[in-house]
Amino acid sequence: MSAATPGPAPAVPVVAIDGPSGAGKGTVARLVATRLGWHWLDSGALYRVVGLVGRRHGLAPGDEAGHAELAGRIDIVFGGDAATDTVWADGADLSRELRTEEVGHLASAVAAQPRVRAALTGRQRAFRRLPGLVADGRDMGSAIFPDATLKVFLTATVAERAERRYKQLKDKGLGGSLADLSRDIEERDRRDAGRAASPLVRTDDALLVDSTGRSIEAVVAEVLELAAARGLQAAAR
Ligand code: DC
Repeated sequence: MSAATPGPAPAVPVVAIDGPSGAGKGTVARLVATRLGWHWLDSGALYRVVGLVGRRHGLAPGDEAGHAELAGRIDIVFGGDAATDTVWADGADLSRELRTEEVGHLASAVAAQPRVRAALTGRQRAFRRLPGLVADGRDMGSAIFPDATLKVFLTATVAERAERRYKQLKDKGLGGSLADLSRDIEERDRRDAGRAASPLVRTDDALLVDSTGRSIEAVVAEVLELAAARGLQAAAR
Protein backbone atom coordinates (compact mmCIF):
# COMPACT_ATOMS: atom_id res chain seq x y z
CA MET A 1 0.00 0.00 0.00
CA SER A 2 1.48 3.39 -0.92
CA ALA A 3 1.72 6.11 1.70
CA ALA A 4 -0.92 8.07 -0.21
CA THR A 5 -3.54 5.33 0.08
CA PRO A 6 -6.15 6.52 2.54
CA GLY A 7 -6.60 4.17 5.48
CA PRO A 8 -9.98 3.20 6.86
CA ALA A 9 -12.12 6.14 7.96
CA PRO A 10 -11.53 6.91 11.65
CA ALA A 11 -14.18 5.32 13.82
CA VAL A 12 -16.53 7.91 15.25
CA PRO A 13 -16.99 7.23 18.97
CA VAL A 14 -20.52 6.91 20.34
CA VAL A 15 -21.83 7.12 23.88
CA ALA A 16 -25.24 5.40 23.96
CA ILE A 17 -27.59 6.29 26.81
CA ASP A 18 -30.74 4.17 27.01
CA GLY A 19 -33.38 3.80 29.66
CA PRO A 20 -37.04 4.26 30.55
CA SER A 21 -39.06 7.49 30.28
CA GLY A 22 -38.22 10.12 32.85
CA ALA A 23 -34.86 8.68 33.96
CA GLY A 24 -33.17 11.91 32.87
CA LYS A 25 -31.59 10.59 29.66
CA GLY A 26 -32.27 13.68 27.56
CA THR A 27 -30.90 16.16 30.07
CA VAL A 28 -27.89 13.99 30.92
CA ALA A 29 -27.10 13.18 27.26
CA ARG A 30 -27.32 16.81 26.24
CA LEU A 31 -24.97 17.92 29.03
CA VAL A 32 -22.50 15.11 28.37
CA ALA A 33 -22.46 16.06 24.66
CA THR A 34 -21.90 19.70 25.53
CA ARG A 35 -19.02 18.89 27.90
CA LEU A 36 -17.38 16.61 25.34
CA GLY A 37 -18.03 19.07 22.49
CA TRP A 38 -19.76 16.23 20.59
CA HIS A 39 -22.98 15.93 18.63
CA TRP A 40 -26.18 14.88 20.38
CA LEU A 41 -29.01 12.73 19.06
CA ASP A 42 -32.33 12.84 20.90
CA SER A 43 -33.81 9.80 19.14
CA GLY A 44 -37.10 10.05 21.04
CA ALA A 45 -37.71 13.39 19.32
CA LEU A 46 -37.75 11.60 15.95
CA TYR A 47 -40.52 9.25 17.13
CA ARG A 48 -42.35 12.20 18.65
CA VAL A 49 -42.18 14.10 15.33
CA VAL A 50 -43.54 11.09 13.42
CA GLY A 51 -46.39 10.65 15.94
CA LEU A 52 -47.32 14.33 15.95
CA VAL A 53 -47.02 14.96 12.21
CA GLY A 54 -48.94 11.73 11.57
CA ARG A 55 -51.80 12.97 13.72
CA ARG A 56 -51.75 16.33 11.93
CA HIS A 57 -52.04 14.46 8.64
CA GLY A 58 -55.05 12.61 10.02
CA LEU A 59 -53.35 9.19 10.16
CA ALA A 60 -54.89 6.58 12.46
CA PRO A 61 -52.41 5.65 15.23
CA GLY A 62 -52.19 2.09 13.86
CA ASP A 63 -51.45 3.15 10.27
CA GLU A 64 -47.96 1.67 10.07
CA ALA A 65 -47.47 2.20 6.32
CA GLY A 66 -48.53 5.85 6.57
CA HIS A 67 -46.26 6.56 9.55
CA ALA A 68 -43.33 4.72 7.95
CA GLU A 69 -43.73 6.78 4.80
CA LEU A 70 -43.72 9.98 6.88
CA ALA A 71 -40.71 8.77 8.89
CA GLY A 72 -38.76 8.41 5.68
CA ARG A 73 -39.57 11.76 4.22
CA ILE A 74 -40.24 14.46 6.87
CA ASP A 75 -37.47 17.03 6.89
CA ILE A 76 -36.37 17.02 10.56
CA VAL A 77 -33.85 19.60 11.73
CA PHE A 78 -32.48 19.89 15.27
CA GLY A 79 -31.32 23.20 16.76
CA GLY A 80 -27.77 24.17 15.92
CA ASP A 81 -25.87 22.52 18.80
CA ALA A 82 -26.19 20.30 21.84
CA ALA A 83 -27.05 23.31 24.01
CA THR A 84 -30.47 23.75 22.40
CA ASP A 85 -33.26 21.31 21.80
CA THR A 86 -35.23 23.06 19.09
CA VAL A 87 -36.80 20.73 16.56
CA TRP A 88 -38.22 21.76 13.20
CA ALA A 89 -40.24 19.42 11.00
CA ASP A 90 -40.89 20.48 7.42
CA GLY A 91 -40.01 24.03 8.43
CA ALA A 92 -42.35 24.28 11.47
CA ASP A 93 -40.93 24.65 14.99
CA LEU A 94 -42.55 21.79 16.95
CA SER A 95 -40.28 22.03 20.02
CA ARG A 96 -42.93 22.87 22.59
CA GLU A 97 -45.66 20.54 21.44
CA LEU A 98 -43.23 17.62 21.14
CA ARG A 99 -42.62 17.58 24.89
CA THR A 100 -46.24 17.02 25.96
CA GLU A 101 -47.37 13.74 27.58
CA GLU A 102 -49.88 13.29 24.79
CA VAL A 103 -47.20 13.35 22.09
CA GLY A 104 -45.07 11.01 24.24
CA HIS A 105 -47.87 8.47 24.03
CA LEU A 106 -48.27 8.94 20.26
CA ALA A 107 -44.51 8.43 19.93
CA SER A 108 -44.57 5.28 22.02
CA ALA A 109 -47.36 3.88 19.82
CA VAL A 110 -45.63 4.56 16.47
CA ALA A 111 -42.30 3.41 17.93
CA ALA A 112 -43.79 -0.10 18.24
CA GLN A 113 -44.20 -0.26 14.44
CA PRO A 114 -41.24 -2.09 12.83
CA ARG A 115 -41.51 -0.20 9.54
CA VAL A 116 -41.31 3.13 11.34
CA ARG A 117 -38.21 1.94 13.22
CA ALA A 118 -36.66 0.72 9.98
CA ALA A 119 -37.34 4.07 8.28
CA LEU A 120 -35.58 5.91 11.11
CA THR A 121 -32.55 3.63 11.44
CA GLY A 122 -30.41 5.21 8.71
CA ARG A 123 -31.47 8.69 9.73
CA GLN A 124 -30.23 8.06 13.27
CA ARG A 125 -26.92 6.59 12.11
CA ALA A 126 -26.32 9.69 9.98
CA PHE A 127 -25.87 11.67 13.21
CA ARG A 128 -22.64 9.76 13.86
CA ARG A 129 -20.06 12.36 12.90
CA LEU A 130 -16.70 13.43 14.26
CA PRO A 131 -15.66 14.28 16.87
CA GLY A 132 -18.28 11.94 18.41
CA LEU A 133 -21.95 11.37 19.20
CA VAL A 134 -23.93 11.07 22.41
CA ALA A 135 -27.23 9.36 21.55
CA ASP A 136 -30.13 8.81 23.92
CA GLY A 137 -33.20 6.61 23.53
CA ARG A 138 -34.33 3.04 24.07
CA ASP A 139 -32.30 1.07 21.54
CA MET A 140 -29.18 3.16 20.94
CA GLY A 141 -26.84 0.51 22.35
CA SER A 142 -28.88 -2.54 21.35
CA ALA A 143 -29.89 -1.80 17.75
CA ILE A 144 -28.72 1.52 16.31
CA PHE A 145 -25.12 1.74 17.54
CA PRO A 146 -24.30 -1.80 18.77
CA ASP A 147 -20.57 -0.93 18.51
CA ALA A 148 -20.89 2.15 20.78
CA THR A 149 -17.74 2.75 22.82
CA LEU A 150 -19.74 3.28 25.99
CA LYS A 151 -23.27 2.05 26.70
CA VAL A 152 -25.11 3.38 29.71
CA PHE A 153 -28.48 2.15 30.96
CA LEU A 154 -29.86 5.08 32.93
CA THR A 155 -32.75 4.38 35.24
CA ALA A 156 -34.62 5.64 38.33
CA THR A 157 -37.56 4.35 40.35
CA VAL A 158 -41.09 4.93 39.00
CA ALA A 159 -41.87 7.10 42.06
CA GLU A 160 -38.90 9.34 41.39
CA ARG A 161 -39.62 9.64 37.67
CA ALA A 162 -43.26 10.55 38.36
CA GLU A 163 -42.18 13.12 40.94
CA ARG A 164 -39.79 14.78 38.46
CA ARG A 165 -42.44 14.91 35.76
CA TYR A 166 -44.90 16.36 38.26
CA LYS A 167 -42.47 19.16 39.13
CA GLN A 168 -41.76 19.90 35.47
CA LEU A 169 -45.47 20.18 34.70
CA LYS A 170 -46.06 22.36 37.74
CA ASP A 171 -43.22 24.69 36.70
CA LYS A 172 -44.90 25.07 33.33
CA GLY A 173 -48.21 25.86 35.06
CA LEU A 174 -49.70 22.55 33.89
CA GLY A 175 -51.66 20.16 36.08
CA GLY A 176 -51.58 16.41 36.59
CA SER A 177 -51.82 14.19 39.64
CA LEU A 178 -48.87 12.19 40.90
CA ALA A 179 -50.94 9.00 40.83
CA ASP A 180 -51.93 9.56 37.18
CA LEU A 181 -48.34 10.31 36.22
CA SER A 182 -47.08 7.13 37.92
CA ARG A 183 -49.70 5.10 36.07
CA ASP A 184 -48.75 6.76 32.77
CA ILE A 185 -45.07 6.03 33.32
CA GLU A 186 -45.73 2.39 34.17
CA GLU A 187 -47.90 2.02 31.10
CA ARG A 188 -45.26 3.56 28.83
CA ASP A 189 -42.53 1.36 30.41
CA ARG A 190 -44.64 -1.71 29.71
CA ARG A 191 -45.24 -0.70 26.10
CA ASP A 192 -41.60 0.27 25.41
CA ALA A 193 -40.17 -2.84 27.04
CA GLY A 194 -42.89 -5.24 25.90
CA ARG A 195 -42.96 -4.54 22.16
CA ALA A 196 -41.50 -7.00 19.67
CA ALA A 197 -39.50 -4.43 17.64
CA SER A 198 -36.31 -3.26 19.40
CA PRO A 199 -37.78 -3.24 22.91
CA LEU A 200 -36.14 -1.32 25.72
CA VAL A 201 -33.56 -3.74 27.13
CA ARG A 202 -30.37 -3.43 29.10
CA THR A 203 -27.72 -5.17 26.99
CA ASP A 204 -25.03 -7.20 28.79
CA ASP A 205 -22.41 -4.61 27.94
CA ALA A 206 -24.42 -1.60 29.20
CA LEU A 207 -23.34 -0.08 32.50
CA LEU A 208 -26.18 0.60 34.93
CA VAL A 209 -26.46 4.16 36.26
CA ASP A 210 -29.28 4.87 38.73
CA SER A 211 -30.28 8.53 38.96
CA THR A 212 -32.70 8.03 41.90
CA GLY A 213 -32.10 10.68 44.56
CA ARG A 214 -29.11 12.16 42.72
CA SER A 215 -28.55 15.53 41.08
CA ILE A 216 -28.20 15.84 37.31
CA GLU A 217 -24.69 17.14 37.84
CA ALA A 218 -23.70 14.01 39.80
CA VAL A 219 -25.07 11.73 37.08
CA VAL A 220 -23.35 13.73 34.31
CA ALA A 221 -20.08 13.52 36.24
CA GLU A 222 -20.45 9.73 36.56
CA VAL A 223 -21.10 9.28 32.83
CA LEU A 224 -18.10 11.51 31.99
CA GLU A 225 -15.93 9.37 34.30
CA LEU A 226 -17.13 6.21 32.59
CA ALA A 227 -16.38 7.84 29.23
CA ALA A 228 -12.89 8.86 30.36
CA ALA A 229 -12.25 5.31 31.57
CA ARG A 230 -12.92 4.18 27.98
CA GLY A 231 -10.46 6.75 26.67
CA LEU A 232 -13.15 9.15 25.47
CA GLN A 233 -12.08 12.77 25.80
CA ALA A 234 -13.54 16.18 25.09
CA ALA A 235 -12.89 17.41 21.56
CA ALA A 236 -10.16 20.05 21.21
CA ARG A 237 -11.83 23.44 20.92
O1 DC B 1 -37.41 9.51 25.04
P1 DC B 1 -38.80 10.02 24.71
O2 DC B 1 -39.77 10.05 25.87
O3 DC B 1 -38.77 11.32 23.97
O4 DC B 1 -39.38 8.94 23.67
C1 DC B 1 -40.71 8.97 23.22
C2 DC B 1 -41.15 7.56 22.86
O5 DC B 1 -40.44 7.12 21.70
C3 DC B 1 -40.91 6.52 23.93
O6 DC B 1 -42.08 6.20 24.64
C4 DC B 1 -40.40 5.31 23.20
C5 DC B 1 -40.05 5.77 21.84
N1 DC B 1 -38.61 5.66 21.56
C6 DC B 1 -38.16 4.47 21.05
O7 DC B 1 -38.94 3.53 20.90
N2 DC B 1 -36.86 4.32 20.69
C7 DC B 1 -35.99 5.31 20.86
N3 DC B 1 -34.72 5.15 20.49
C8 DC B 1 -36.42 6.54 21.42
C9 DC B 1 -37.76 6.67 21.77
